[in-house]
Amino acid sequence: MEKVECKIQFKTADSSHVGQMHEIEESVFPVPWSYESLASDVCEHEIAVYVVGLCKDEVVSYAGLWHVLEESHITNIAVKKKYRRIGIGKKMIKILLDTARELDVKSVTLEVRESNVAAIGLYEKAGFFKANRRKKYYTDNFEDAIIMNKVL
Ligand SMILES: CC(C)(COP(=O)(O)OP(=O)(O)OC[C@H]1O[C@@H](n2cnc3c(N)ncnc32)[C@H](O)[C@@H]1OP(=O)(O)O)[C@@H](O)C(=O)NCCC(=O)NCCS
Repeated sequence: MEKVECKIQFKTADSSHVGQMHEIEESVFPVPWSYESLASDVCEHEIAVYVVGLCKDEVVSYAGLWHVLEESHITNIAVKKKYRRIGIGKKMIKILLDTARELDVKSVTLEVRESNVAAIGLYEKAGFFKANRRKKYYTDNFEDAIIMNKVL
């Protein structure tokens, strides 16, 4: 694996990051969000909080959370291939969970493809448990979604 030389800085995402976030979105997800959806989430939606991981000016990762009263929902999380398995996903989840705690959120939920071993491993390590299943949730291959939950 290629060695990562820089120390990753984590920041709240803003409009200057959206272009690179969307490039990652398109490169990792079979059904990516549109640029407009991502931009409006990052820049306009008051209930949304996004964090980015930066190597100098390069966005190498991002993750987002929606807050609705006492519940939060992880919308998406992605790390560029070269930067995986060095703890960036774990760190972003920690930042989002800390943010949720500050907002007095009681529980955090998310959905994940049942075949996504890496993401399920990441979430379980962060204390999420499998709570439910949504049959044929994903429209590209009709894969089931696993609903995971964490009580704060
Ligand atoms: C899932 C993803 C965000 C993980 O990011 P990451 O920065 O590589 O994760 P971390 O290095 O913080 O790993 C934390 C833990 O997650 C688990 N994990 C991460 N990648 C894994 C893999 N490929 N296989 C198994 N477990 C994995 C491990 O438990 C790991 O802890 P360890 O390294 O001490 O064993 C990354 O693989 C990714 O961007 N995938 C594509 C997008 C995606 O599927 N997003 C999730 C949508 S629900």
